[in-house]
Amino acid sequence: MKKEVFIKNRDNLANLLENNSLVILFAGEAFFKSADEKYKFTPNRNFYYLTGVNEEHHILVMQKQNDELFETLYVLRPDEIQEKWTGKTIRDYEAREISGIEDIKYLDNFYADLNNLLISGDIKNVYLDLERRGFDEELRYPQSFAKKLKKKYADIIVKNVYNEIANLRKIKSKEEIEEMQKAIDITTKGVEVLMKNCKPGMKEYELEAYFDFTLKQSGVTDFAFNTIAASGKNATVLHYVDNNSELKDGELILFDLGAQFNYYNGDISRTFPINGKFTARQKEVYEEVLKVNEEISKMLVVGVTFREINDKANDLIAEACIRLGLIDDKKDFRKYYFHSIGHSLGLDTHDVGERWGELKEGMVFTVEPGIYIEEERIGIRIEDDVLITKDGPVVLTKDCIKTVDEIENFMANI
Ligand code: GLY
Ligand code: MN
Ligand code: MN
Repeated sequence: MKKEVFIKNRDNLANLLENNSLVILFAGEAFFKSADEKYKFTPNRNFYYLTGVNEEHHILVMQKQNDELFETLYVLRPDEIQEKWTGKTIRDYEAREISGIEDIKYLDNFYADLNNLLISGDIKNVYLDLERRGFDEELRYPQSFAKKLKKKYADIIVKNVYNEIANLRKIKSKEEIEEMQKAIDITTKGVEVLMKNCKPGMKEYELEAYFDFTLKQSGVTDFAFNTIAASGKNATVLHYVDNNSELKDGELILFDLGAQFNYYNGDISRTFPINGKFTARQKEVYEEVLKVNEEISKMLVVGVTFREINDKANDLIAEACIRLGLIDDKKDFRKYYFHSIGHSLGLDTHDVGERWGELKEGMVFTVEPGIYIEEERIGIRIEDDVLITKDGPVVLTKDCIKTVDEIENFMANI
């Protein structure tokens, strides 16, 4: 993405901040996996959103003073010996070009610079990304940094900037939509490859490997999340990721998958018959889920709340369960559908920000109704990604094969 996007993101954030303030954001670092091996590094998404830079340890400092914004990005000082082991780190001119931040400094200056700023008397507030998760979770680096800061500079007010950034991230720019569309198109290509190569007798992971291959072939370096490849009864477990059962003739397979492109995510679920042809019952259930998927997708318009959409989806699925002979009373639908209708999508698959409020132009939500009938070994979810515009919903996943006829024809090579 071009640097103007990140410049605009920072300006938008700065507009929300008080004067006499600093924002300090950390790129983070890779976690240890075992012994000296680390997980692959992925940048803190709020840091990425504001800089476009994706290397470990970097720190962004924004200072707002008299309505003026001063920005510094701290990057690793190049270390020729280390670079013989782990490759080149970003150079100052590269960081400048990616982020649009003119003032690029080396990390070893950070604490001295911070101290100078904080003793100058100009700074009242320090905003940190203090994202809240579970009570018992290990405190993350920004949390421990906040503690240190408060201890050392007792009069500094530490504020949480997480919600401000999350609210900005909920509304996607044209450039962000383009990145998401790329992730979605690659995911769609992967779904087609799965449908083409599916045969009874394979293992779920064997089929899944075609998706992995397609992503790599398309230049994708990461998944949006762990792929769910759930055949038969496995599809009735929402987050089944073992993916090691045999594909049985006459059963369905549910794939919930996504490519990640420049950290933007696609999130698609498709369910199809392992032998290419739905049974009458499978088709009956599938058509019900599809109807909900289509009806709900049309509801994603500016001004409607996601709560209303979710309530409507519950109602439609409950009615479908009655028509399918699964329940007699609508209130019992939770036995066959136990999640919500979707979530915001973006730099995170379950994207940041409050979910239940009014839809606005530029938001992207998934629509993912499902019906899961364990006793019939049928689990069906159909998930699309939908952009909200002033002219109505735009289904970004519209090219991903979905109807019974489309699937059967495609799998029969017609
Ligand atoms: N794949 C996770 C979800 O659909 O929410
Ligand atoms: Mn999904
Ligand atoms: Mn989803």
